[in-house]
Amino acid sequence: MATTPTPHNGAIEGDIAKTVLMPGDPLRAKFIADTYLEDVRCFNTVRNMLGYTGTYQGVPVSVMGGGMGMPSIGIYSYELFNFYGVESIIRVGSAGGIADEVKVRDVVAGMGACTNSNYAHQYQLPGTYAPIASFDLLERAVAAGRDQGVELKVGNVLSSDTFYDDNDQATISWQKMGVLAVEMEAAALYMNAARANKKALCLLTISDLPLKGESLSAEERQTSFTQMMEIALAVAIQ
Ligand code: ADE
Repeated sequence: MATTPTPHNGAIEGDIAKTVLMPGDPLRAKFIADTYLEDVRCFNTVRNMLGYTGTYQGVPVSVMGGGMGMPSIGIYSYELFNFYGVESIIRVGSAGGIADEVKVRDVVAGMGACTNSNYAHQYQLPGTYAPIASFDLLERAVAAGRDQGVELKVGNVLSSDTFYDDNDQATISWQKMGVLAVEMEAAALYMNAARANKKALCLLTISDLPLKGESLSAEERQTSFTQMMEIALAVAIQ
């Protein structure tokens, strides 16, 4: 294992649990730690990308912000997998619903992550890589959702490099291919997990419908966020 701390993470080996929940927003990470975890210790403040380890129902779990976009989650998840011995990362984020059947407040699990990013270029593959979730984590999330009365919408998502895109037809092209939702991180997370022989899953609450111009207020996001978090925590402690 490489030396720790790293340039981006002040933790040392042993500070971080085997499973990490990863929201984009570091203040969300603090909220999750404060709300759900016991015996919480902060392990990172570098760049304010807050990270905490605590326990949930007696099991060690960490939560750390991953930032926005693939370069950002690419750095943090790479270091967690390769330098800190982390085995599983569950992204807990928000997304824009694209498919007709996806509504605001739905919880989506990214079984696969299409992307318009060049992240896979580094692997020098003689073709196109298909980033996918860990089936083990995905299966557990679907079951945990059912236990909690939430039917996850499972399928492909788009990890986009752009939030504001000059080509307003692009989303429709992805919709035609059955993509459920657009976010900005899953593909890089899934590729890092694959390359490190680790596990990853992306859970998303639908905060807006870009093709219909609908969006939830911050308060309205909270209910679906809570459902998603409780599913993610159930997966983390299994
Ligand atoms: N995250 C939440 N909504 C999004 C959208 N419309 N596009 C990309 N990422 C998002």
